[in-house]
Amino acid sequence: MNTSVSQNSRVLSGMRPTGLLHLGHYHGVLKNWIELQHSYECFFFVADWHALTTHYENPAIIAQSSIDLVIDWLAAGVNPGSSTLFIQSRVPEHAELYTLLGMITPLGWLERVPSYKDQQDKLKDRDLSTIGFLGYPLLQSADILIYKAGHVPVGEDQVAHVELTREIARRFNHLYGKEPDFEEKARAAIRKMGKKNAKIYNDLLKRYQEQGEAEALEIGYALLDAQQNISLGDKERLRGYLEGGGRIILPEPQALLTRASKMPGLDGQKMSKSYNNTIALREPPDSVEKKIRTMPTDPARVRRNDPGDPQKCPVWQLHEVYSSDDIRQQVIEGCTTASIGCLECKQYIIDAVIEELKPIQQRAREYMDDLAGVENIINEGCEAARDVARDTMEEVRKAMGLTLR
Ligand code: TRP
Ligand code: SF4
Repeated sequence: MNTSVSQNSRVLSGMRPTGLLHLGHYHGVLKNWIELQHSYECFFFVADWHALTTHYENPAIIAQSSIDLVIDWLAAGVNPGSSTLFIQSRVPEHAELYTLLGMITPLGWLERVPSYKDQQDKLKDRDLSTIGFLGYPLLQSADILIYKAGHVPVGEDQVAHVELTREIARRFNHLYGKEPDFEEKARAAIRKMGKKNAKIYNDLLKRYQEQGEAEALEIGYALLDAQQNISLGDKERLRGYLEGGGRIILPEPQALLTRASKMPGLDGQKMSKSYNNTIALREPPDSVEKKIRTMPTDPARVRRNDPGDPQKCPVWQLHEVYSSDDIRQQVIEGCTTASIGCLECKQYIIDAVIEELKPIQQRAREYMDDLAGVENIINEGCEAARDVARDTMEEVRKAMGLTLR
């Protein structure tokens, strides 16, 4: 059953504040965010509570990293005029939703999330047998559901978390979406659409419920999206009614899979802090130069006049990101005939990376010189996020029997 709210084009994503961003983040994540902010309402946040799940023993870096993270986003081109930027811990409603969702989340669902065991095995030096770590994906679900996000841009490793979020939303709606007078309210809402639309809706309802026609469901969604004279609550009710369930309070999000970041690191593996093969967005030009000059190359090219094979060289992978066809052609030609040296070949990359980082670093400096301005952006973002989160929590409390009226 597809219970995602297709009209919901809100995008939400978060990053943990665990250090300065590097080119892997830029090519793999941030360019995508920057693209998305043109077409969607975007919420991007610093997942500082998530950082604490693994870094609870040395929290000192979290506050500074949070500001640095936002500065790096802004420097890379995330636009605070079109996106809402905020910090998770400043919207405490996330914790309330996490607690309430915890009531309905079977332990097995969390124990089965692949990252739970994987990370425990990987981070052997830390004790991750905590409630916080087990609850990591549930907290992420709360982050997503509290904004009723339709799309969650994430990498491959996070897809299971979005999948869990969908299951939790489904369970929540199943348990609490059925108001005592659901049927009556749904019928009343149908009438409010007017005679003609009510008839169309009822026909589609029949086609879907009796014949299972998936197409009728899709047309029904579109019909509801187009209604101007019924409330959002009624629309959600009628979606649920059409599907044969209750009202959808928490819509199911979709993962927006970021195509696997092809950004190679300095050693040819994926660029990642844990491989120690990164170039930071704030890397000074002389350090960029040094790092690239000392990159390993095709091991067969021991001497300058030994021919090489770009396919066996990590520098080549960077040419695939940065160089024009023309330069690439010259490199293949030059490498395989030993007519260019590796330093010459690397110089193209050095120039391209420094050029790419120049405007980013310029903007980062401007923001670092105006920390009050950055704080303003964050404060405004937190306020805007809280407004949305508060509204959702009101509905959730009501659905779960926590309001007196
Ligand atoms: N777990 C994500 C990561 O490690 C960060 C994150 C936390 C997140 N909450 C989220 C991402 C909500 C998307 C949506 O990258
Ligand atoms: Fe690698 Fe370039 Fe040297 Fe060839 S010339 S081995 S592609 S660095």
